[in-house]
Amino acid sequence: MSTAMIDTETGVTPAAISIADLTVTFSSKRGTTTALEDIDLTVADGEFVTIAGPSGCGKSTLLKVIAGLTDSTRGEVKLRGRDVRGPQREIGYVFQRAALLEWRSVRKNILLQAEMRGMSRQAAARRCDHLLEMTGLTGFENAMPYELSGGMQQRVSLCRALLHEPDVLLMDEPFGALDALTREKMNVELHRIWLETKTTVVLVTHSVAEAVYLANRVVVMSPRPGRIVETLDVDLSGHRDYAETMERPEFIHVANRVRELLGSASAAD
Ligand SMILES: Nc1ncnc2c1ncn2[C@@H]1O[C@H](COP(=O)(O)OP(=O)(O)O)[C@@H](O)[C@H]1O
Ligand SMILES: [Mg+2]
Repeated sequence: MSTAMIDTETGVTPAAISIADLTVTFSSKRGTTTALEDIDLTVADGEFVTIAGPSGCGKSTLLKVIAGLTDSTRGEVKLRGRDVRGPQREIGYVFQRAALLEWRSVRKNILLQAEMRGMSRQAAARRCDHLLEMTGLTGFENAMPYELSGGMQQRVSLCRALLHEPDVLLMDEPFGALDALTREKMNVELHRIWLETKTTVVLVTHSVAEAVYLANRVVVMSPRPGRIVETLDVDLSGHRDYAETMERPEFIHVANRVRELLGSASAAD
């Protein structure tokens, strides 16, 4: 990942993401919707922050504002101390659907990122090989998307999002369409990949277990208009075996609190 820039005036390294007093309102003929209200959030370099909240509370909107795909109505959004204005290049994005091009092989889907950015072919190929290995896709380079399981397709999508070594990886319910067991495996894999790459990640999820397992910090949001209700630190350092982690008192404590904040079990999983 690119090295953090130090502000020459203050000598302080800016946060990977800093959001202050953010409000987003959508206006249409039918009226206005306040999707997000008074959001303050700072994400440090290399942190893994998860966002949990009910449907429609503005989680996707928050990621889009960070990526510069949606404008803020009020407030400040910065990436490494720079105002976000328009789509940001230093970002990787993973959506719920892998959104692969059906007519391109695994490798060519991943390299799409390089083509769009004009990366050097050699560097892109090397990085692609490394990512394929890291995500357990070696041997499937030439497979077509329809030949892959849902979990494998999401791994390809993750490789594509990481190809250009983005400063920040944004993930919007990336495993929401997968069965429970595949989802657990992907959680374990994503955690391992994060330990290896130390990319800053913001991941949105409906699943309390996923939110707590992956995070350094869990941000819990209220129903629309989305506000931050509470931010919880997760103290589960290092490698996280899935079954063992689920039973750790620290995990259970935070998961219970997140469930409580979400109000009812039906709002979560
Ligand atoms: N482009 C848009 N135009 C109008 N309303 C939108 C737009 N995007 C989202 N919304 C509204 O903003 C609210 C939050 O949406 P979203 O961020 O998708 O929530 P979540 O991802 O938490 O389910 C919803 O009420 C949704 O209908
Ligand atoms: Mg959403």
